[in-house]
Amino acid sequence: MSDNTNINRTQKARAHTNIALIKYWGKADEQLIIPEDNSLSLTLKDFYTDTEVRFDKDLTADEIVFNNHLMNKAESQKMINFLNIVRQKAQQNIFAHVKTQNNIPTAAGLASSASGFAALAAASSKAIGLDLSRKDLSRLARRGSGSATRSIFGGFVEWEKGNNDQTSFAKPIEENVDWDVNLVAVITNRHEKKISSRRGMKISKATSPYYQAFKQVTSRDLITMKKAISNHDFDLMGHTAEENAMKMHALTFSSDPSFTYFNGDTLKAMQLVHELRNEGINCYFTIDAGPNVKVLVQHDNLKKVIRKFKTAFGQSNVVATVPGPGIEYLN
Ligand code: ADP
Ligand code: DP6
Ligand code: CO
Repeated sequence: MSDNTNINRTQKARAHTNIALIKYWGKADEQLIIPEDNSLSLTLKDFYTDTEVRFDKDLTADEIVFNNHLMNKAESQKMINFLNIVRQKAQQNIFAHVKTQNNIPTAAGLASSASGFAALAAASSKAIGLDLSRKDLSRLARRGSGSATRSIFGGFVEWEKGNNDQTSFAKPIEENVDWDVNLVAVITNRHEKKISSRRGMKISKATSPYYQAFKQVTSRDLITMKKAISNHDFDLMGHTAEENAMKMHALTFSSDPSFTYFNGDTLKAMQLVHELRNEGINCYFTIDAGPNVKVLVQHDNLKKVIRKFKTAFGQSNVVATVPGPGIEYLN
């Protein structure tokens, strides 16, 4: 039993999204969300979710307000399932008021599930009276969405796949990134994707003939990426991230039925990165499960990259950011 002192008190948490530099794409255990492979990400400062939770003995069901909209039961089922795990851990049978706000488009490949479930894990566990270590928070967040396991930590983070609920969690590699890494997000579509990450990776694992090859190259890319980070080798980091992203997206093209998260503007953004590199401006793209593109760039080239993308995609669709912190409690 957890102690009851926090019940009825509102707990607020902020979690930042992360961009995978080495992609997680496939589960060994769908129920517990154990991944096939380790993955590695960078937490981002300006993209986050704020969530507040208050458990209330008088409620007869969870009440969830998502981006100022009161959700119905069907809409909130994933979050209710997650709260059930939290209730079970705390051995409490009380429902919650939840209010969550994403400062990024939801379900558009900008990792709202990562910041969303990391923030919910932190706020709900504290509100119910559990005092979890960051490792245990990472394990808990994983149950909501795989990528959320990494958003508990700041900077560069590795999710060690493990092989059960105890052993699958993220670890910080370099929490305070004190070298020159910037990221420019290019938003080509803010709408909800047609194929969720969950469904996309399931189809790829089940049907792509390249899935085993992806696993092999990903384990090599991970070693290279860790070397690039420890040497602060920006070009090796960027190149490895871009190559790994393309290998992941090759799994969608080679699935049956085949699909892609790219749209025409995604391809245009990729081409602009190639053009910039041809002009001697070192920048690299990576893309998660959506049409939006993230460009890694260093400070000296940042202005030129921003200008190029703003001209092509409009002022409001280009947002620059830097590495961000791990979970923050707001009260
Ligand atoms: P994304 O690329 O945005 O991560 P996913 O398909 O992985 O897209 O996940 C989208 C899902 O993440 C949403 O449908 C919702 O279930 C969940 N999600 C998004 N934001 C939040 C939030 N703030 N709190 C809880 N869950 C969230
Ligand atoms: C392409 O974590 O959103 O962004 O675990 O099913 O919720 P679920 O999927 P999710 O998948 C993220 C896929 C990715 C790569 C990554 O973040 O590593
Ligand atoms: Co997601």
